[in-house]
Amino acid sequence: MTKHVPVLLEEVLDLAPAAGLFIDGTAGDGGHSEALLRAHPQSELVAGDRDPVSVARTEDQLNRLPAERWRVECSSYADLWGQLTESERRQVRFWLLDLGFSSAQMDSAERGLSFQADGPLDMRYDQSDVRRPTAAEIVNRYNVVDLANLIFKYGEERMSRKIARVIVEARQSAPINTTRQLADLISAHIKKHPKDKIHPATLTFQALRIAVNDELGELERWLTQTLPQLPSGCRVVVISFHSLEDRLVKRAFQQLTKPQTNEFGELVEPRAVSLTKKPTVAKEGEIQVNPRSRSAKLRAIEFI
Ligand SMILES: C[S@@+](CC[C@H](N)C(=O)[O-])C[C@H]1O[C@@H](n2cnc3c(N)ncnc32)[C@H](O)[C@@H]1O
Repeated sequence: MTKHVPVLLEEVLDLAPAAGLFIDGTAGDGGHSEALLRAHPQSELVAGDRDPVSVARTEDQLNRLPAERWRVECSSYADLWGQLTESERRQVRFWLLDLGFSSAQMDSAERGLSFQADGPLDMRYDQSDVRRPTAAEIVNRYNVVDLANLIFKYGEERMSRKIARVIVEARQSAPINTTRQLADLISAHIKKHPKDKIHPATLTFQALRIAVNDELGELERWLTQTLPQLPSGCRVVVISFHSLEDRLVKRAFQQLTKPQTNEFGELVEPRAVSLTKKPTVAKEGEIQVNPRSRSAKLRAIEFI
């Protein structure tokens, strides 16, 4: 199976403090987690991922390090704070989120994340989570307006209405159950603009993945419920891969790093300082060896 290459690794390691409890909320293949533990021998780490397969892969990776320095939880990062003890909460000095999916997930056809491999139209990070709809359920059940809105909102796809119409028409003859069916359908009807470098189904697949996993909802939940609770001295690093996520992170970080006015009209001092005036992006050398780093944006703050 493909191994995920951690993005902006040097930058993440440079931002981590020398010691304390580190949280990696999106463990993936454990690449960042392992490197953090190795680079900072005085640190301990709690890693989490909502995908049980990623949890197992991270455990395999971290098994090479002393067991008393780490543990892995199968949890959404938005619920991870609740899995920490009171004493752990006080010791958190670093919280990393590297959002989205791993290369291993993208490359396993049976997850249905990629239009390049044929697989069931599923897309759930946790395939045992029956509460979440699969992408096939959305594609085959939503009405044309809701489908178009979803593709526009989460994919920022200009052709959302046409794509929704094509889907709804096609499913009248037979349900759309595989990634290949959906990708072929979209490319048969949507002309790629010569300047577009991406496949015509890219943004629709992105939109479905975000909706299936409620990715923006989870991020909002973490930004509003966990972030404000992090203790003084804690550094927070978030790596996002599209503007929808980055916008949410930027806004939440600004609220913490700029003076705010409270309900009585009084000025409230900022709770954190920004460690990245502009988002950090990958250097050309990294992009060449790891093309997925091209769209990564890293923002970091430190609680005062
Ligand atoms: C880009 S990968 C992380 C790669 C990792 N940093 C590494 O170096 O191997 C993102 C991971 O986040 C996980 N994920 C996505 N949404 C999540 C959520 N709400 N809570 C926890 N994990 C999530 C995915 O399952 C995936 O494994």
